[in-house]
Amino acid sequence: MEGIRLLLVDDEEEFRRTIAKRMTLRGISPEQAGTGEECLSVLEKKPVDVVVLDVKMPGMSGIEALYHIKEKYPKTEVILLTGHAATQDGVEGIKAGAFDYLSKPIELDHLLGKIKQAYDKIRREEEKLREAEFREKMEQQMIATERLASLGTLAAGVAHEINNPLAIIKESAGWMKLILNKEEFAEIPRKQDFDMALDKIEKGVERAKRITLKLLGFARKGDSVLAEVDLKELAGEAIQLVGREAANREIEIVRKMDVPENTIWSDPYQLRQVLLNLITNAIHATESGGEITIKLEVTGENVALIVQDTGQGIPKENLEKIFEPFFSTKSPGEGTGLGLFVTRGIVEKLGGTIEVESQLGNGTSFCIKLPKYLEVKEDLEGNHHADLLDKIVKMG
Ligand SMILES: Nc1ncnc2c1ncn2[C@@H]1O[C@H](COP(=O)(O)OP(=O)(O)OP(=O)(O)O)[C@@H](O)[C@H]1O
Ligand SMILES: [Mg+2]
Repeated sequence: MEGIRLLLVDDEEEFRRTIAKRMTLRGISPEQAGTGEECLSVLEKKPVDVVVLDVKMPGMSGIEALYHIKEKYPKTEVILLTGHAATQDGVEGIKAGAFDYLSKPIELDHLLGKIKQAYDKIRREEEKLREAEFREKMEQQMIATERLASLGTLAAGVAHEINNPLAIIKESAGWMKLILNKEEFAEIPRKQDFDMALDKIEKGVERAKRITLKLLGFARKGDSVLAEVDLKELAGEAIQLVGREAANREIEIVRKMDVPENTIWSDPYQLRQVLLNLITNAIHATESGGEITIKLEVTGENVALIVQDTGQGIPKENLEKIFEPFFSTKSPGEGTGLGLFVTRGIVEKLGGTIEVESQLGNGTSFCIKLPKYLEVKEDLEGNHHADLLDKIVKMG
């Protein structure tokens, strides 16, 4: 019963003191109160686990105090001390929510036994509550993951279907432009408006294509590669690809990736996409003069790739949403809101996890944990083992 918080309420001071003293010898030092009112004011200051409560007291009776306690502190258990042959009080007390009652005169061991039972009940209930909370959290996480997974499949399917009509629109618009620019049409009325409308169609198609490409980027079948990937080199490549944009904004990108072993077996192309998405986001969120750090840490069978920026940070209410498809705080021309959705899809497909930490105004850090050896599973891309091995490419 170590750590139990106990309150002893009885108007007979002598009795109270003796019991408290003997309990202290057994390692429990109870709080004390002489009346029902005092009991409530003690609880107000310091909640306890178990109250041992005398029923017969001048002023507020034990039963009355019990009602108050159960209303205000429902988790607190109450053991009533009733007078000899006053079973009626005990029965009423149990109806009002008391854990149990003992008739005076009481034996200390008997009382301690009851206190222990009450305390065990509290701990069992706490445990149940923790379990229920944990289960609910897990269920929510599973629902979110499943939703993302099915959304991904659906989105990729739609993207694929949309590519064909997009190609037709693009070709037709190009053909119309070509015709419109022939000499015989040089004088038609509102030719400029037609030109502008065709430009708009082409721009719209380009944007739609960018979206479908991103969606297909991680769902495409058949071109997955398993290779030994030098992560430091890979980060170097990604940095080079975004170098101009970073330089324009005077943002420095540094690598802290000097670990004894910086290679893993994974898909280099998909991983490069992941790094590109994260670094691009970081650049967009960072003011000039800021810094982006790419770190590599190795722990056991996993590596952690961290992309950290000193940018504006992500508001708490957005942290849950950033991995959802089409969530973007950028203007429509600038962001499709697919970067992180695709990134998470890739990372999970490569057997890893992605986590984000952010402090508004101070910066954001994305941490990707990946296995050092990606297991070759048949369902990686719907390919068989041998097909995949055929595709193994040694990087560098
Ligand atoms: N490093 C970061 N710092 C601050 N906000 C970020 C960061 N990374 C992502 N975000 C927020 O998450 C949103 C979603 O990011 P995501 O990469 O999915 O889409 P996007 O960058 O808006 O568009 P795109 O599809 O072009 O990548 C961003 O609009 C931005 O609000
Ligand atoms: Mg992005």
